[in-house]
Amino acid sequence: MKVLVVGGAGYIGSHVVHAFLSAGHDVTVFDNLSSGQLINLVPGTGFIAGDIRHPDDLDAAFSRGFDAFVHLAAFKAVGESMSEPEKYSVNNLSGTINILNAACAHGCKRMVFSSSAAIFGSPQYLPIDEAHPANPESYYGFTKLEIERILAWYDRIRGLRFAALRYFNAAGYDPDGTVLGLESNPQNLLPIIMEVAMGWRKELQIFGNDYDTRDGTCVRDYVHVSDLARAHVLALETIDREDESLTVNLGSETGITVTEMLETAREVTGVEIPARYVDRRPGDPSELYATSAHAKKRIGWEAELSDCKTLISSTWDVYRKHQTAEK
Ligand code: UFG
Repeated sequence: MKVLVVGGAGYIGSHVVHAFLSAGHDVTVFDNLSSGQLINLVPGTGFIAGDIRHPDDLDAAFSRGFDAFVHLAAFKAVGESMSEPEKYSVNNLSGTINILNAACAHGCKRMVFSSSAAIFGSPQYLPIDEAHPANPESYYGFTKLEIERILAWYDRIRGLRFAALRYFNAAGYDPDGTVLGLESNPQNLLPIIMEVAMGWRKELQIFGNDYDTRDGTCVRDYVHVSDLARAHVLALETIDREDESLTVNLGSETGITVTEMLETAREVTGVEIPARYVDRRPGDPSELYATSAHAKKRIGWEAELSDCKTLISSTWDVYRKHQTAEK
């Protein structure tokens, strides 16, 4: 298929591009490079510089004729979404509506949407399945949920068939080394641990060690980004074949604590990685993990690379390539 990957120069997007290319699809990236990077562009892909806030950019892109698109262009910092919701309204909500309108106007009616476990809020039960009530606790999570609802209406009215993929904690790097861009000013646990290991940050601050978990630190479901990327291909092929939309949770089904991640990172890197306990971060649920039984049934997917060591070693390999980079 001829696929447009909107946000394809970002951390997850570039892995998605790699997965589509490996599966034999023809890929073009649309990105404004606000957080995406040219270094992430996999050789063999087309590139369109454009912004989802500008309908004309999208019209020009979709006029090239695509069979399907993947939408990953979004701001994703949970904390920032609570202090600057306007940014999230304009980019995540209006930007998505612009994409849908341009795609439908040009008859491109197959899409994969990058949704998030953030739509669930604090879990009412574990593991989290697709029927778990959606109750986002951040404006970021709200934007993802709202888009899922808009997609259901475009399906009904315009015949747009979509796959909404609710990622749990994306981590790791392509083990083949095709993606090399590092996120600048990362907000997530594993890249922060890596920055400490590299000596770019003084220490890891562990947000709370008094949770009701096996070691007192929070449990999350970390899923390898290459596993996530493969799910996009399977999901698109499924909705194309069945002409029916779908929504699935994507997790490894394994909970890892912050301390376990840190200890494994010390082991893999051989670096001490200074860390200290600090207060809890507001809004952090103690434990989050998914069941991906539905993803297995619906798109034939399960995590394969998401064990703690592979997550860390694949990330460490990329950070070490940046050893001489100035920070
Ligand atoms: N953590 C620390 N210190 C840090 C950073 C994180 O202790 O410096 C802890 C957090 O408290 C949390 C865990 O590491 O317990 C993971 O935190 P992240 O910030 O990496 O990830 P979150 O679970 O908060 O959220 C991530 C994405 C969201 C997504 C969610 C889905 O950032 O966009 O996973 O589960 F919605």
